[in-house]
Parts: sequence; structure tokens; C-alpha cells
Amino acid sequence: LNNSLSLTPAMGWSSWNQFGDSINEQLIMETIDSMDKSGLKEAGFIYINLDDGWQRYKGDRKDHPGPLEADPVKFPSGIKALADYAHSKGFKLGIYSGPGDLTCAGYTGSKDHESEDAVLWASWGIDHLKYDSCCSHADAPQAEVQAVVRTMSLALLSSSRPIVYHACHCGWVSVWEWAAADGANQWRIGQDISDDFNYPGNREKYYFDVLDMLDRGANLTQYSGPGHWNDYDMLIVGLEGKSGQLVGTGASDVEYRTHFSMWAMVASPLLIGADVRTLSNTSLTTLLNREIIELNQDPLGKPADVAWESADKTQQIYAKVMADDSYAVALLNRGGATADMNLNLRRDLTIPWDKYRVRDLWKHEDKGPYDMPYSVEVMAHEAKILRIWPVEKTRN
Ligand code: GLA
Repeated sequence: LNNSLSLTPAMGWSSWNQFGDSINEQLIMETIDSMDKSGLKEAGFIYINLDDGWQRYKGDRKDHPGPLEADPVKFPSGIKALADYAHSKGFKLGIYSGPGDLTCAGYTGSKDHESEDAVLWASWGIDHLKYDSCCSHADAPQAEVQAVVRTMSLALLSSSRPIVYHACHCGWVSVWEWAAADGANQWRIGQDISDDFNYPGNREKYYFDVLDMLDRGANLTQYSGPGHWNDYDMLIVGLEGKSGQLVGTGASDVEYRTHFSMWAMVASPLLIGADVRTLSNTSLTTLLNREIIELNQDPLGKPADVAWESADKTQQIYAKVMADDSYAVALLNRGGATADMNLNLRRDLTIPWDKYRVRDLWKHEDKGPYDMPYSVEVMAHEAKILRIWPVEKTRN
């Protein structure tokens, strides 16, 4: 199954990380207006995704027969009017459901009503569906999870509206091995993110911090590419410990920058999770770095792999080739102290360039040419993000 959508990872905003199910149409319209004005739309963040809690009813479909409805208090004008508003401003609108009787937050799910719901969403002008199996199908056998992912995929395809399909999230089965063939454009690779860069002990408490998520994805890059992406979960940039929904005490500006850079490097969807109406200038500047976004939106769609790591794993080099044959490289210092890191093209990337030039994508500076390893000081929890081009290829 293939809907030919999401040839590059989806970019936009999702309501969950900051607001949980406390959402309403005024908030969403203000979010749209703010993203329009701040330049986020122009930078590519166009999907505005309602997560759980837009629905009218909690509880089973049997108690609430009839078509799904939006909560009339939260969304008095209805979802179609909101989609029209989003479209009029150049955005797209996403919605949320799940394959069980109930969604994760206990709202009515799509079980046994998949086609009906898909047709309804299409009639509203919906452009993206997050279909969350994590609660209703936790512990379900793989074949069953796969079947419900496929059922909604077929329903969306026959709705005849292009709807990006996020089949979320079933990390207890190997969703990445089959979800693309079942028509999913993205799937979560791990549990919910927390608003932390590195919080030892987090994972035992269910949540994944930034480094946990990177480690989870490191062996899964082969499954990700144009039309079908590993989703590292929504961004925490700008939450600053103030999330209404996520655990975590926040990260520093450097850590948020590293997180954003690494999500771009590994070709994860980039869905802002913070309140964009009150973002700090620093967070906005982070999210608006076009040179970083370009790594994520490169048409070749290669997720970065770990190219080298120190024995104690506190230093890592991630790299990916770009459509123009340049390389994107991240020198990531996971340790607690500043470190000197070296990039050796032959050792780390096995590319035989005798001379190369380097662009630092946060300093926006060109450096070189170099004919030796590139050395740079990297702060604790910082990632230097470089783009490198050959000046002279090997003559032999
Ligand atoms: C799950 C998902 C979250 C969010 C909630 C909504 O926990 O992982 O991203 O969608 O459900 O209830």
C-alpha cells in the first residue's frame, strides 16, 4: 500500500506535548496565526495536528452511536471550519484517533468504524491522521497490530483524499519492519518523550529522553526513507519544563538545539510541541534554522547513522549523505564536560576527499579548505552540525 505522500518528513505542530486534551478552536487558530507571523510556516512547519481530546465523547462507541463528533464546547464551529481556516492560511490540519474502542486518553476510538471515520475526516478536509494503537493494543500480538494499521490505511486510501498516515505507536512489536508496506508514512519508535535531554532512570519510568530516543533509533535507520519515516516523537524545544502534559523538568537552550539538530539529522518528522504563541526568541531561532531544516527535508531522505563513537559512548559522530553528494555530520558530545572532537573523513565516513570545506550550520560560517582531520571544541550536550563538500577528490 502506498499513498505517495510524505516524501520528506512531515513538519508542523501538534497539540499534545504542551496542552494534552485541553485544546479548543481559539487556541488552534491562534497557533495558526502565530506560526504564520513568526516565519514558522515559511520555514516549512505546515501541519497543525490536533492530538487526542478533540472528540465529543469519552467512552465506547456503543454508548455513543452515530458518527464521531468534535466536542461542541471546545470546537463550537466544528472541525471542517477549522480545516478551512487552516487551508486559507496555507496550513494543513491533522486529527487523531485509534483502532480500539477507546483512545489513549479515553475518548471514543475508531474500532469497527474505520471507513466511516476516514470518509468523515476527508469530508472535513483533514490532511494528516495520527492513529494511536499504543493503549488499546498494548500487548496485542504483532499480527493483530498489523491488521488494524492496515485496515485504517485501506480506509484512508479509499476516502480519496490525500491524508498523511501516522500509524502510532507500537514499539513492543517491530512496527518499522512492516508498517511502510501497510501504507504508513510514519510510526513512533519509542515511548512518549519527556522534556529532558538526559535523565537517567527515565526509561524505567516509561518515558524516553532525547538520548534514549536517539539510541532507540540508531539501529532502525534502514527502515526509514521517503514516504515512510521513523518518528522520534514530537519536539520538546521551548517547553522549558512548563509542559502541561509531559514529565520532565526542561532542557537548556543548547540541549534543545542539539535535540532539534539530531531530529533533523535522523529524518524524524518535526512536529513542534510547545506553545508557539509564547516561544522565547532563542527557541524560535532554533526552530527557524533553515540550514538544519534542509538536512531533514533533503530529497534523498537518508537518516543519519552513527559513523563513529568513543569507547565510553560519550562522543558520537552521526553522518548522512545528501542529495547533492555533500555530507551532513553531527559531532555530538553526550558527556558532561567540554570535549575536543575530531572528524576524520577516511576513518569516520570512508570518503576519500583529500581536501574539503566545512560549513558550521549553527554559526553559519564557512571554514577550510582542510586536508587534515577537522577538530573542534564541543560543549557538554552540544552537537556541532556540519555540512562538508569536497574541494579535491582523491587522484588515483
Ligand atoms: C499516547 C501517545 C501520545 C498522545 C497520547 C494521547 O500516549 O503516545 O503522543 O497522542 O497518547 O492520548
